[in-house]
Amino acid sequence: MGDSRLPGFYKLSREERVRAVAAFSGLSDDEVRMLLGGYGLTPEEADRMSENVIGLLQLPLGVATNFLINGRDYLVPMAIEEPSVIAAASNAARVARVKGGFRASADRSLTLGQIQVVGVPDPHAAVQRVLEHREELLRIANDTNPTLLRVGGGAVDLSGRVIDTERGRMLIIELLVDTKDAMGANTVNTMVEEIAPIVEELAGGRVRLRILSNLATHRMARAWAVFDAEAAGGRDVVEGILDAYAFAAADPYRCATHNKGVMNGVVAVALATGNDTRALEAGAHTYASLGGRCRPLTRWELNSAGDLVGSVEMPMAVGTLGGATSSHPVARLSLKILGVRTAQELASVMAAVALAQNFAALRALVKEGIQRGHMKLHARNLAVMAGATPDILDEVVRRLSELKRVTYDDAVRIVGEVRSSAARAGGSDKS
Ligand code: MEV
Repeated sequence: MGDSRLPGFYKLSREERVRAVAAFSGLSDDEVRMLLGGYGLTPEEADRMSENVIGLLQLPLGVATNFLINGRDYLVPMAIEEPSVIAAASNAARVARVKGGFRASADRSLTLGQIQVVGVPDPHAAVQRVLEHREELLRIANDTNPTLLRVGGGAVDLSGRVIDTERGRMLIIELLVDTKDAMGANTVNTMVEEIAPIVEELAGGRVRLRILSNLATHRMARAWAVFDAEAAGGRDVVEGILDAYAFAAADPYRCATHNKGVMNGVVAVALATGNDTRALEAGAHTYASLGGRCRPLTRWELNSAGDLVGSVEMPMAVGTLGGATSSHPVARLSLKILGVRTAQELASVMAAVALAQNFAALRALVKEGIQRGHMKLHARNLAVMAGATPDILDEVVRRLSELKRVTYDDAVRIVGEVRSSAARAGGSDKS
């Protein structure tokens, strides 16, 4: 396995970067061509994936470097339009390496499916009636997916609860399914739909919803790492990060933004690997608010050596098989770059990225602020919007980057100035 540090990676040309990733991950010539050409999903494939398709939406795909997780090096593919996120993850992973990188783990892929039964006169007894048929219901659920059973997964448990709602008491029957390397939404939804009529008969009420829950608390991923105080930026930065964490723990307005930073990393890896970003967001934010108020998904503390210790624990329902992870060519390629063997390993890597992303955001916020990191790419975007052509782009960006703040008007002015001086230089060349 290669070394994910790849020093100076960001300074390479895009082609050189692709070659470096290809060497690290053993990509084929076709895969290299796909990245270099920006090829991916074809319109025909897209048309089969969704409805009313009229085109494709492209996003930048990058790789975060430096990740050492459980002693193994990873290059982490991330698809995201926001500048600085990938650089931030790479920088944080570099700091984490000083003390041995990340430790990470994830639960089995246990996914919960819910069946809602309304109008049950004796709901507590109804739970018992349904559970008396537990083995039979598990068998019927498993008959819908013999392949999953063959690979050691399948429905493993059935339970029931009575809840009070504004529409009266309801019986909720819950099926727990090990979906192995799939995210598992389709598998679980099929199973709960299959057993629902029997549940309805046993319970003696009326079944309404039959659907998986995105609050994936049976599928948690966790990571922790020691961030060397010196490499993190010194004592004051460490104290600043602890203050920032305390702020998020005490205030929901800050907590939402803190967790948004965590999700920058999670969602970018999820998008790159074809996973369901909405499911992850729903699970993470609901989990963070389980106690009745928003809690930070990460925790920060000091160890006895004065280094910063970060940890994260959050639901992480992801797969490496099925859905877009298998059908989207770029998702397949991203999984190959990442080199994960199982959904659990992917969830572990994503927990490490979540922690890295949060460390990087807090460090930037307590040091120079978040805008400086954004500025270079922001300046480049503004320069292009203001009409900078490739021949003058670097010079326009260089001059914009010298400004304290950059606006579109600045970009227009500087494009004009650089163009005039280029024209003058061209004129004097001819004379
Ligand atoms: C920006 O996308 C994410 C941050 O706002 C996260 C945070 O404030 O912790 C920088």
